[in-house]
Amino acid sequence: MRTHMFGFVAAALVAASSSSVLADQATFAPLKDNTLYQDPVGGTSNGMGETMFAGNTAQSSTRRALIAFDLSGIPAGSTIQSVTLTMSMSRTRAGGQSVALYRVLADWGESTSYAGIPGGSGSGAEPGDATWLHRFYPDTPWSTIGGQFTPTSSASTVVSGVAFYSWSSAQLAADVQAWVNNPGSNFGWIARGNEASGTTAKSFDTRHHADVSKRPRLVVNFTAPAGYGACCMADGTCRVQNDAGCTSIGGTFQGAGTVCGPTNSCPQPTGACCFADTSCIQLTQAACTAQGGNFNGPNTSCGSIICPRVLTKFVDALPVPPVAQPTTGTIGGAATYDAVISQFQQQLHRDMPPTTVWGINGTYPGPTFEASTGLPVSITWMNDLRDAQGNLRTTHYLPVEPCLHGPDILGSAPRLVMHLHGAKTPRESDGHPDDTFLPGQEDTDTHPNDQSALTMWYHDHALGLTRLNVYMGIAGAYILRDNEERNLNLPSGEFEIPLIIQDRSFNNDGSLRYNSGFDDRFYGDVVVVNGKAWPFLNVKRGKYRFRIVNGSNSRTYSLSLSNNANYTQIGSDGGLLAAPVSVSTITVAPGERADVVIDFATYSAGTEIMLRNDAPINFPGAPGDGVIPEVMNFVVQSQAGHQGAIPVTLRAVPRIPESQARVVRTINFQQMAFPCTGTAWLINGLLWDDIVETPRLNTTEVWRFVNRSPIMHPMHMHLVQFQILDRQAFEIVNNLPVGVGPRVLPLANEAGWKDTVQTYPGEITRVIARFTGYSGMYPYHCHILEHEDHEMMRQMAVLPACPCDFNNDAIIDSRDYFAFIASFFANNGDINFDNATTSQDFFDFLSCFFAGCPS
Ligand code: C2O
Ligand code: CU
Ligand code: CU
Repeated sequence: MRTHMFGFVAAALVAASSSSVLADQATFAPLKDNTLYQDPVGGTSNGMGETMFAGNTAQSSTRRALIAFDLSGIPAGSTIQSVTLTMSMSRTRAGGQSVALYRVLADWGESTSYAGIPGGSGSGAEPGDATWLHRFYPDTPWSTIGGQFTPTSSASTVVSGVAFYSWSSAQLAADVQAWVNNPGSNFGWIARGNEASGTTAKSFDTRHHADVSKRPRLVVNFTAPAGYGACCMADGTCRVQNDAGCTSIGGTFQGAGTVCGPTNSCPQPTGACCFADTSCIQLTQAACTAQGGNFNGPNTSCGSIICPRVLTKFVDALPVPPVAQPTTGTIGGAATYDAVISQFQQQLHRDMPPTTVWGINGTYPGPTFEASTGLPVSITWMNDLRDAQGNLRTTHYLPVEPCLHGPDILGSAPRLVMHLHGAKTPRESDGHPDDTFLPGQEDTDTHPNDQSALTMWYHDHALGLTRLNVYMGIAGAYILRDNEERNLNLPSGEFEIPLIIQDRSFNNDGSLRYNSGFDDRFYGDVVVVNGKAWPFLNVKRGKYRFRIVNGSNSRTYSLSLSNNANYTQIGSDGGLLAAPVSVSTITVAPGERADVVIDFATYSAGTEIMLRNDAPINFPGAPGDGVIPEVMNFVVQSQAGHQGAIPVTLRAVPRIPESQARVVRTINFQQMAFPCTGTAWLINGLLWDDIVETPRLNTTEVWRFVNRSPIMHPMHMHLVQFQILDRQAFEIVNNLPVGVGPRVLPLANEAGWKDTVQTYPGEITRVIARFTGYSGMYPYHCHILEHEDHEMMRQMAVLPACPCDFNNDAIIDSRDYFAFIASFFANNGDINFDNATTSQDFFDFLSCFFAGCPS
């Protein structure tokens, strides 16, 4: 960047002396730097790398570092007195090696190749990069391979351990003098290490290193020609100019003989300096930094800037949502519940005023429902959303997009409908997006809980409003248990905690901030866990079971521990895995759950371990893009906690054989033109009311999710728990996706039961599901809530089981006839036409057989 190239730093303006000319000092950051990697084809470089290398690898392959500076800040005619190059050596094998600088004799390039960290092997050169063979890859070779440079070095220094090292010599000053006299000859230096034996390479930090203090710098002491002096610019920078030159660039000339370095004494402009509590003071940059503020730039004004509130992390204890209290029945048993959804204020961080949220029975997130397999639970959801005056709301709290499907007909009142995500529930209790109820209305859902133990979560599902209703807070955990799981003695009670992770943005008054227009994504800048921003949890020295729910609108998290320790995943969306899986990172997309065990037994009291995230937004995205690195903190206490071992096997997860599937469906997703929002995320180009997927109850299907978009979509199906078969890259041939390359099986922690699957760009993700339980209309959709509201959500019509489909293959043919006859004569009660095997069954079967299945 230009500002770095001309980075004069620091020092007092010294008054001109009439007799002597004072020496000035300038400090420069590199204009470019790169590494030449010895290879026979010259295809390797590292233009964007954080490191550069000099010396030989263990295989005696040579690396040479190139570095150049823009010296145009030193006026022509100046006399160079001394020059010092300082570099940070960041990685090395033991031992001192001499690293020498040679003047480069031809121009060379730095382009966009990037070898990552440490970068010692380099990466494929990009056009314009310097390589061992090229000044500019791929067309402009060096005249001498390995670079053109002077035969004798200008300076050398022995570098050994990790430290800063400097090069300085009369010849180095002579090099700079030559470049100031003839800027067209300035191609910088090449650094060569010990090239006489192997394993001598030293790694230096480049101008791309994240830590500015570790980037190379060149300090030049010089005397400017007579008449030159310091020229102060409005932004506070200092340039060496004569009077006329200074005036022509809009600066204020300080007089001949005044200097810019080593300390810049130009008057520093003030700017808006923001503090964590949202206050703003007009200060210079130095004063702002000294007072712990955040400088908004020279000449910015507090009058026109709103300082964001900065929340201190890990100062609030993690809340554990209360367990829902039944109105009849027992917690964890058959029971009925009243759940009142209302608007209230809740404090989401110590340093922030209370936030208006929507929650259930007075809490956000809502209470945790406890249930057991086979014991039904009925919940009466009451929409009691009222405005600040106490009147039932007729409008939403957040801006509604009126042209989206849903609000286009039903308007902006806060309609709700509650869905239990992960449940096998009759259609009328599944939270169908069309079944919304208004403020003042209620709706009862009954969940039979005829499924094995799993972590579910409930959330609003109103057509065209889901993203807003969930963002306001309408979500919570629902935990289904069974005896098989109870017998495993996993951590429970105080050692079992749901973690509902969501990202939010806030205005300075504490209110929730959401995109004002309709956007196809939402990313907050604060992580809220169980309703507190960046909380901490005091943990005893033992195992904890955390049921992680990604309840965010769009954000995916890749969760790891700050001490890089592994932890254990025991379950996924649909319940326990077959066996525990040791993981260092788990990626959870919106809607997904991860059931994990973290063991704190080996840490001493006082140890702090952060649960951190490194997933970029627009996942899989560019590394670092929009990442909120902190999620929450664990603080280890002295008491012992849960010590029991995690069993080596958890439960049987039989694979559904692919041969069972009678139907394969292809589900394409793509962004397409759409009248309401310009473009929309759609499935197969169809809309919510276009119903073409009709799986039949008690049959098995394979669904191929084809992602023709640049981001990952977490695809969720209601009613079923499926298994991931595989993922495969594809190409489009005649506008149809055709798989290419290997079919990649799911990782162990994805090989259990799932209801939401990460489908990656350019891949076909195949899942297999058996449709059991209930027939009717069930949604399937992308769980990025903005996409769901876009209509990246459709319905499948699960058709009733066919009574004459005796072998459940969704085809009525002679095999069914033989299967029926076999049952009939075995009199095995499998006939089901009139509950007794009589000749009437035979006639009933025949009429069904010829009439075909009901649709
Ligand atoms: Cu969690 Cu249809 O959604
Ligand atoms: Cu769901
Ligand atoms: Cu999506």
